[in-house]
Amino acid sequence: MESKGKKSADNLLNSSELWPAEYCQYLIEDYEAEIKRIAYNLHDSVGQNLTIVKLILDRLIDSACSSDYRPQLEAAIQKTQQSIDDLRKISSGIRPKILDEVGLFAALKVMISDYSHANTKLTLNLEIDETRIKSNLKIPIYRISQELVCNIIKHSAATSASLTISEKNSQLNLIVCDNGKGFALENAIKKINSLGLKSIIERIKQSKGEKLVINTSVGCGTETHIAWPI
Ligand SMILES: Nc1ncnc2c1ncn2[C@@H]1O[C@H](COP(=O)(O)OP(=O)(O)O)[C@@H](O)[C@H]1O
Ligand SMILES: [Mg+2]
Repeated sequence: MESKGKKSADNLLNSSELWPAEYCQYLIEDYEAEIKRIAYNLHDSVGQNLTIVKLILDRLIDSACSSDYRPQLEAAIQKTQQSIDDLRKISSGIRPKILDEVGLFAALKVMISDYSHANTKLTLNLEIDETRIKSNLKIPIYRISQELVCNIIKHSAATSASLTISEKNSQLNLIVCDNGKGFALENAIKKINSLGLKSIIERIKQSKGEKLVINTSVGCGTETHIAWPI
């Protein structure tokens, strides 16, 4: 994607003034552990209670074949089942279970196809053999890709965007580009309630990444380049 007109950017991993301590305090390990805890609790507590409610309703409807309440009972059963299904989707979605089930590249393909109805045309370029990617990099790559693609859909108003994974000069590269409206990077990083970019830098640091460059300026699209040693 064309990077003409964009302000050149340094490796953000080296610019500590952009990442003051108070913005970087929250640790991804804790964050992942917290997400897992919520997912398990939702499943074990709310999920089990809903299953019990559904069982009770199933019994009631059996014994109320001819009662006037049957339509209401049927509606309650249907809503309870829908809540059980929704909850399962939510609690499995916040843990990247899909990575264990189908692998990183297939999970990225699913993610991209989930956005097929968005106004941005997303292209996925996988230019490396998946076996070249160390297993400890799979979650960071997946989560960072999710955040960058989600940002494109939410904020960029781009008509096209791409996510590329490639290998060059002993580095594994993740490059995400869009042709959207771009943004003022320093202001975005300092937004206290915007955790996406902060979580990205924490994940890169934690997984021993060696590069994060974000080329963006208002009106000129955005290109994010992250690299790890291979
Ligand atoms: N691809 C993009 N195009 C335009 N603006 C973006 C893009 N990515 C991020 N931004 C801007 O940077 C801000 C911070 O992003 P982020 O930290 O992910 O927080 P959030 O997505 O929760 O707002 C966003 O609110 C948005 O203004
Ligand atoms: Mg975001």
